[in-house]
Amino acid sequence: MFLPDLLQGKRILITGGGTGLGRSMAARFLELGSEVAICGRREEVLQVAAAELAVKAPGRVSWRKLDIRDPEAVEAVIESLWRAGPLDALVNNAAGNILSRAEDLSHRAVDAVIGTVLHGTAYMTLACGKRWIGERRAGNVLSIVTTYAWTGSAYVVPSAMAKAGVLAMTQSLAVEWGPKNIRLNAIAPGPFPTEGAWQRLVPRKDMEQAWLKRIPLGRFGRHEELTDLAAYLLSDRSGYITGEVVTIDGGEWLKGAGQFSMAEVLSDEDWLALKPKGRK
Ligand code: HXC
Repeated sequence: MFLPDLLQGKRILITGGGTGLGRSMAARFLELGSEVAICGRREEVLQVAAAELAVKAPGRVSWRKLDIRDPEAVEAVIESLWRAGPLDALVNNAAGNILSRAEDLSHRAVDAVIGTVLHGTAYMTLACGKRWIGERRAGNVLSIVTTYAWTGSAYVVPSAMAKAGVLAMTQSLAVEWGPKNIRLNAIAPGPFPTEGAWQRLVPRKDMEQAWLKRIPLGRFGRHEELTDLAAYLLSDRSGYITGEVVTIDGGEWLKGAGQFSMAEVLSDEDWLALKPKGRK
């Protein structure tokens, strides 16, 4: 759907780019001509991912081992990437999440999730933003949030708290850094199956079936649907969009929010019985 040079010449850093949606985004951005750097906690995973991605894009993929919860490590990695050439865009994709009753969480569990999703995202964004501002360069930040960033969600409370914070960061900085030609947007995905998320968050098959029933379009998201949206938001063609969040969830959250969505249990007979008598 895009010209193959849509992202030509752009240097894009993707956190959590070795697996899942991060890796899918990396592959798509490379197809569209960009250079991509991926970072994550596990060296072996990054090495393999970078090598596989580089098959179709030789010389355009690099990787750095990084736990974004560590502000000094963030600074060192951003500095080393910048030395190779300034970044044009940052994708805050790395996340952590625990499906748990809140009363079962330790303070370390809370910190593991909020440290990654909220603090890590802030460290990365500030490290890039300071450099863009210092060099008077344009910048672009895309953060992956969730549809429960607005509503909260039971059983993933630290994640909901942190994603709400990332949403607030996106909207706040879009205004503060707009005059400096730095855009910030977010994508709020519904369910897009990935190994990491599914293993942790969908422990039983019947949960998956129940989930599908909540989605008006009747299916989970396909990675290419999200990666094309991300490519558009990182491209100059979306240059007037900032502070925006695009939901991509097959209608899931609206179905949950609408009071009468449960009327889907009514049969044709029930609906006919509701019609005024004498009307066809
Ligand atoms: C209760 C748990 C737990 C669980 C871990 N902990 N799992 N507590 N229930 N299921 C506790 C540990 O006991 C420990 O506390 C603390 O959390 C830290 O755990 P570690 O394993 O030491 O931490 P760490 O290696 O940093 O792991 C971080 C993590 C893990 C968040 C816990 O899940 C992770 O690495 N996740 C990354 C990938 C991921 O989550 N992807 C999904 C993102 S999707 P104590 O007190 O014992 O030391 C998403 C959006 C929603 O977020 C998508 C909708 C489809």
